[in-house]
Formats: sequence, C-alpha cells, structure tokens
Amino acid sequence: MADNSTEQKNWRGVGNEDSDIDSAGNLILAGRSRRLLMSLVRPYKKQALLALAIIVLDNIAFVAGPLFIAYALDDGISAATNGDWGPLAWTVLGYIGFGVLGAITTYTFLIVSGRLSQDILFDLRRRVFTHAQQLSLSFHEKYTSGRLISRLTSDVESLQTLLESALNDALSAVLSIVTIAVILVYLDVPLALIVLAGFVPLVLVTRWSQRAQRTGYRRTRVAIAKVVVHFVESMGGIRAVQVFRREKRNDAILELEDTEYRDATTAALRGMASYTGIVRWIGNVTLVIIVVFGSYRVINGHMDIGVLAAYVLYLRRFYGPLDELAMVFNAYQSAAAALEKISGVLEEDPSVEAPEHPVALATARGVVDFDAVHFAYNADRVVLPEFSLHIPAGQIVAMVGATGAGKSTLAKLLARFYDPTEGSVSLDGVDLRKIGDENMREHIVMVTQESFLFSGSIADNIRLGRPAATDDEVAAAAEAVGLTEFIATLPDGIDTDVRKRGGRLSSGQRQLVAFARVFLAAPAVIVLDEATSSLDIPSERLVQRALETILRGRTALIIAHRLSTVGIADRVLVMENGSIVEDGTPADLIAGHGQFADLHEAWEDSLV
Ligand SMILES: Nc1ncnc2c1ncn2[C@@H]1O[C@H](COP(=O)(O)OP(=O)(O)O)[C@@H](O)[C@H]1O
Ligand SMILES: [Mg+2]
Repeated sequence: MADNSTEQKNWRGVGNEDSDIDSAGNLILAGRSRRLLMSLVRPYKKQALLALAIIVLDNIAFVAGPLFIAYALDDGISAATNGDWGPLAWTVLGYIGFGVLGAITTYTFLIVSGRLSQDILFDLRRRVFTHAQQLSLSFHEKYTSGRLISRLTSDVESLQTLLESALNDALSAVLSIVTIAVILVYLDVPLALIVLAGFVPLVLVTRWSQRAQRTGYRRTRVAIAKVVVHFVESMGGIRAVQVFRREKRNDAILELEDTEYRDATTAALRGMASYTGIVRWIGNVTLVIIVVFGSYRVINGHMDIGVLAAYVLYLRRFYGPLDELAMVFNAYQSAAAALEKISGVLEEDPSVEAPEHPVALATARGVVDFDAVHFAYNADRVVLPEFSLHIPAGQIVAMVGATGAGKSTLAKLLARFYDPTEGSVSLDGVDLRKIGDENMREHIVMVTQESFLFSGSIADNIRLGRPAATDDEVAAAAEAVGLTEFIATLPDGIDTDVRKRGGRLSSGQRQLVAFARVFLAAPAVIVLDEATSSLDIPSERLVQRALETILRGRTALIIAHRLSTVGIADRVLVMENGSIVEDGTPADLIAGHGQFADLHEAWEDSLV
C-alpha cells in the first residue's frame, strides 16, 4: 500500500507532470513525450516514409472503386445498350485491377509497418531497462521495481497497440476521408455542402468526447501500475506474507486496486462506445438526407443516377473510417498517458553524476577521508550534520551505534550510492566525485546484510567479483572464504545452479559467496554493512574466519551488529545521531567507561 501515495506524489517531476492540454480540449503530447517519440522514430525515418508511400497507394486503390461503378452505371450501360461493350469491360477490368493493387499494398503495408513498430518498441524497452539500471540507488529507493515493471510491460504495450494497429487505421482513415471529401465535391457540390454541414455536430461531439476521455486514460495507467506494484511486492516478500498471514489482506488490496483498474478501463470504453454510436447516428442521418435530396436532384435532371449511387457508396466509406478514428483516438490517449510515464523515467538523471574529466586511479592504497560531510536524504531531516573521519590505508575500522544513527548512510556515501550534500568523501585524497564509476568500484566494494545471488552457478556468482578471473582463481576464492567443504556436497560442485535468488543456499552460505566475490575483486577498500548480522553462530564463526582472510592488507569499514566482529578491528568507532562519540582501539575503549565498554560488558555476560 505504501507505494500508492508515491504514484501520485510529486518528486522531481516523475509520474506527475501533466500533458499539456490546449484550450480546445485536445490532448497534446507533453514536450518530453514528444521528444521521446521523435527520438524513437528518427532512426527509422526511411521505413516510416516507405510505409507512408504504401499507404497512399493503398488508399488510392481503396477509393477508386465507386468511381468505376458510377462510370459503369452512367456511361457503360448506355454504351452497352448501343452494342458497345468496351466501356463496361474496361470498368470491370479497372475495378478488378485496383482490387488486386489494394490487396498487395495492404499486405506490404502490414509487413513494413509491423516490422517498424516492433523495432521501435524493441528500442524503447532496451532504453528504459538500460537507463533504469544506471539510475542511482536514490531513484530505486523511491521508485519501486513494480512501477518500473509496469512501465516496461503495460505502458509499452499500450504504445504497441497504437503503433501496431491503430496507426495503420489512423493513416488510412485520414487519407481516405480527405480523398473522399475531394471526390464528393468533384461529384456534386450541393450534396457535398450537406455532408459538410454534418461535420458541425461531428466536430462538437469529438471535442466533447476528448474532454471527457483525457483524464480517463491517465487513470487507467495509474491503476494498472498499482496492480503490478502490489503483485511484485507481494510475491517478492512471499515469505513475510505467509509468516504474518497477510494473504487475505493482500487479496483485499488487490481486489481494491484491480477494481479501480477495471472501472477506469470500463469508463474509458463507455466513453468510446458513446462516441462511436453518435458518429454512426450522425452518419446515417446525413445519408438519409443525401438520398432524399439527391433523388430530388436526379428527378429534376441536375444529377445522374450513377453519381448518386457513387455518392451513397462513398458516404459509407466516409463514416466507416470516422469510427476507426474514434478507436485510434482511444489508443492514442492511452499511449500518450503511457508515453508520459515512460519519458518520466527516461528523463530521470542519476543523482550521482559521472565526472566530466575523471581522474584515473590505476591502483589505490586505500586512504579514506570524510571531510566535513553534511548529508540529508530529504530537506526536512539531516542525517549527518558534519562528519569528518580519516582512515589510514590498511586500517580495519569497526563501527557500532544505535539503529538510525546513520551508519548505513555513511557506508552508502563511501560506496558512492549517494553524494554528500556538502563536504567530500575521498579515496587516496581524490574526491569520489572525480573518479569514474567503474574505476571507483574496482577499489571500493560494499557488502550488505542481504547478498543477492543471480541465476546461474556458484562459480558464476563468485566470478561477478572479477569477470576475467580463471576457474582456478574462482576456486581459490571459494577456498579462501571456506566454501570448499560445502561445495563438495553439491551435485555439480562449484558449477551447481544456485536456483532462484540462491534458494539452494542458506543465508550464511550466500554471504560466503558474497565474500568470495570480494576476495576475487580484491579492492583496496571494503565496506561491510551488518554483513554478518543475519547469520547463526556456526555460520558466523565461518564468516569470521573468511573475513580475516579477505580483509588482510585492506582498508575496511565494518558496521557491526555483533561485537564478535569487532575482535579483528584495529579501531572502534561509536556513532550517535550522525556523529562519532567514541574513537579508539578496542582495548582502550573496553578499559574506559563509555558506551562501548558497557556494550562489551553486556556482550561478555551474554556469552557466559
Ligand atoms: N533512503 C532513505 N531515505 C530517507 N531517509 C533515510 C533513507 N535511508 C535512511 N534514512 C534515514 O536516515 C537515518 C539514518 O539511517 P541509517 O544510516 O540507515 O541508520 P543505521 O544504519 O545507523 O541504522 C534514519 O533516520 C533513517 O530513517
Ligand atoms: Mg543500517
């Protein structure tokens, strides 16, 4: 439920920037949606022009038919009565010829435009995915994966509907309406004026419908995103869901959100249905008037019967596409709402910016400095008021402190998931903001409480630390962290699949895999944020030994939950409300009378 409000909340413009709506009530694509659409189509300009040329031909073939009928009725028949079958034969041949042309152009158009829209959608999906991966942690901490999934699936899908079918219909509809209008004027001006008069109510109805619909489609986009978010969150946290018997409540939430989606969609469909109905009705009334007035003109000899027949045939073809336009308009509204959401994600900049002229650090000694760092996630609450800390190369620092003191924030700043609001964090005296991202991540690696394993084997997961590593190096890393014994029990050894998110491994074993990654990566600085706190005592012992191996000779900041980890530290820091309140060697602090001494005493008592 937590995400419901964020979908509407305005943070850095995402998800809330309205499309411009002009005074006539037409929905115009907002600047960024239009830019996105343009940039998507630009690489395929040639294919788009080809599709356009084919559709023009297709339209000519479609529109030509009734002209042949008029000619056959008015000239062909009279010539035939005089024994000259030529004109009638030509009409038949012409009609068939254009029919064949129409079949070929329709086929080619569907192929060309289908390929075109698939290519565009392919690019769009890739762009959203690539971009979202590059966005900083701060984005992902606010924009849930469910919302991203809904951008990639249902929003892309509604654009697909527009591109695939609707656009074909729209193009041919507009073309045939224009062509037919010209032919109608050419055939008979007074009748054309009547058709034109019928346009007045048509335009009024269209405007009314647009106004009524424009919010409806935004509503459906927001609603479906909520359904997906809820789905992803419930399944992602399925263990917590079952442990705390949250199924019923989740069902209820889904029902509520899905009802909103169903209702929003139904409302949008109802709007479209009334529009289509009214358009048809206006069409039929116009047709009746044309037939009555046309017959009158034929009787008075102002018009040939064949022309009237052609007129009636054309009117049918005139209003048919208007129906289609109504459908296209719906698809367009839906796609515009989707495009707006997608472009919102694409226009998000990573809050951690890449340096323009990066300083290359081929090797790092591992000197870490926090220099007068001020940091706040939001303007309303400062987490680190002014934080300074110097860690010499190779020092192992353990940090303890109450929950919410700002320890993880410090770790995230050192791993550059965030930049300080003021002051700087530096490695070997170089501000992290000046080091390229890849370069920085070679030297600073963070491990957190939950280690994520990807689908693939244990070896694949360890190799993440250094993709170029040989099999022997991977095996050595596993050995170094004490995984060898466990691996020996697996059916395929180190090449055993870890199953979904490492489901085959215990959390302690997953943590060891994460440490093996770090061992392989061999960075100068290691940040461990409560990396051992979820482990039971036996696995913790195992990890403890692994830690001593991988930390040897490196700078480390270990945020510890259990004091057993502190044993290997050279220095201990106690943090409170974003500042350091105690700083010294473990022995010194234990000998003193501060918080750490108390903590340590309590811990020792618990061991007895
Ligand atoms: N992504 C975030 N957005 C906003 N506030 C946050 C975020 N992460 C942490 N905080 C806040 O910052 C403070 C410090 O959190 P944290 O560094 O995680 O503490 P610790 O790791 O010491 O328990 C807490 O008050 C927490 O509510
Ligand atoms: Mg924390």
